[in-house]
Amino acid sequence: MKKVVKIGLSLFAMTALCASGAQAAGGPKPAEMPKAKTIKELAARYDSSGCMECHEDNHDEWSDSLHSRSILGTPRTAPTILTAIEKGLKLFPYSGVKEDKDITVKSLMMCAKCHLPQLNEATDDVAREIVSTIRAWQKAGKEGNDDLYDELEETIASLNIGCMVCHNKLALIHKWADGFAQPDTVYGANDGDHDDENFPKMAVAPALGESIFCGQCHGLGPNYELEHPSQCATIYGSYLFAYVAHGGFETCQDCHMEKSGLGHDMQAYNSDEMIEMALDVKVEGRSLFWRKNKAEGIIPMGVINVEMTNKTGHAIPDG
Ligand code: HEC
Ligand code: HEC
Ligand code: HEC
Ligand code: HEC
Ligand code: HEC
Repeated sequence: MKKVVKIGLSLFAMTALCASGAQAAGGPKPAEMPKAKTIKELAARYDSSGCMECHEDNHDEWSDSLHSRSILGTPRTAPTILTAIEKGLKLFPYSGVKEDKDITVKSLMMCAKCHLPQLNEATDDVAREIVSTIRAWQKAGKEGNDDLYDELEETIASLNIGCMVCHNKLALIHKWADGFAQPDTVYGANDGDHDDENFPKMAVAPALGESIFCGQCHGLGPNYELEHPSQCATIYGSYLFAYVAHGGFETCQDCHMEKSGLGHDMQAYNSDEMIEMALDVKVEGRSLFWRKNKAEGIIPMGVINVEMTNKTGHAIPDG
């Protein structure tokens, strides 16, 4: 048993080394962009619609995924952010947040770290605008003001994990080896020129095709780097310590993008393709009669054996 664990870990260590391989993809840390001052500005900076023209399939697939509305969610995420503010932030004695006006980028990072990592490029006004927009959206819903509701929902959905969050902002992980993402470059599997006038270069992101890339948001457990660690997604933890450690070798991308055939429409139990791949279920049943005791006599009984095998690369469900 000990041996298996050891082999698993050394494989993982190798992946980490390969991921920070020799190709210099990035460059020196670029100067910080001026902070976005409104939701509109932040959304425009990461707008994915400009990529649609040439990458229509990727864009269509992405539009069907939860990544394309990562603050709105199913739409359960936006309301849960408000709950975290009311039942968490405002009740914690040292959070610095008593009212909505006290909310900052830092306070929202306990969710935005993964649901909207680019929020760290915005002012505190944007953090407050997000909260007031979610409140206004809920109010419009309650009052049956459909037009306003749809408009606000669109604004909330404009805050998302778009193309350039993955293909630029989070693309390079081992920055001391691979460099920092450059503002004129899309990161993928190839180097060269890129037809987009805003991003005329294309460069290799060594870890983009590896599980560690998804692990940046799909969680190991508590987010200790925050002053108040939050915990939401934990799948990367169970992937490393339960799946890879026991010999599993497929990546998140292998299962979720390739084998599923879903590409950028990364899905879970909401898609038939993923349900097919999730479990082997073997059920055996048999009926019999049993003499229970003198008073109750012979009673009919059934025995059902259920054997379930988790074929995914992690615990399910997550959370
Ligand atoms: C005018 C057309 C055009 C636009 C607009 C465009 N791309 Fe591309 N992109 C291409 C072409 C063509 C290639 C393939 C280049 C090659 O292989 O020589 C490419 C390649 C890529 C790659 C590398 C794929 C790989 O791994 O080999 C990524 C990533 C990418 N584009 C992302 C984006 C993103 C993100 C946007 C929007 C910000 C975008 N592109 C906008 C035409 C475009
Ligand atoms: C470590 C990264 C991370 C942090 C921090 C995080 N989340 Fe999540 N969250 C995810 C990921 C990834 C998913 C989707 C995958 C899953 O279900 O496991 C998710 C799923 C959810 C869902 C269910 C999705 C839906 O649309 O129904 C809700 C609700 C949610 N998060 C709310 C929050 C709130 C509120 C916070 C802050 C208090 C937060 N999360 C912090 C990564 C994170
Ligand atoms: C959640 C992260 C994520 C988002 C968002 C994302 N991508 Fe990707 N993309 C990937 C990963 C990971 C790969 C590499 C897959 C592999 O190597 O197995 C990839 C591959 C690609 C490729 C090369 C392979 C192919 O399918 O053609 C292109 C082009 C591309 N993405 C464009 C886009 C565009 C355009 C968008 C926005 C509409 C987008 N991506 C959004 C993670 C993402
Ligand atoms: C920037 C952070 C981030 C990255 C990088 C990222 N994800 Fe996600 N992912 C999320 C969040 C946040 C959600 C949930 C959004 C919501 O519903 O609120 C999610 C949702 C999902 C879901 C749907 C879960 C469900 O319950 O339906 C799958 C599957 C998924 N991601 C797979 C991947 C894979 C595979 C990769 C790597 C190729 C990846 N993600 C990269 C943050 C991320
Ligand atoms: C061996 C294939 C396989 C690998 C590897 C794999 N997944 Fe999955 N994953 C699945 C299948 C199948 C499902 C659907 C089952 C479900 O949603 O309950 C799933 C479900 C999920 C879910 C939804 C979990 C839930 O609450 O039900 C998320 C999020 C996710 N995967 C992300 C990832 C990430 C991130 C990685 C890499 C760290 C990864 N997966 C690696 C096959 C895989």
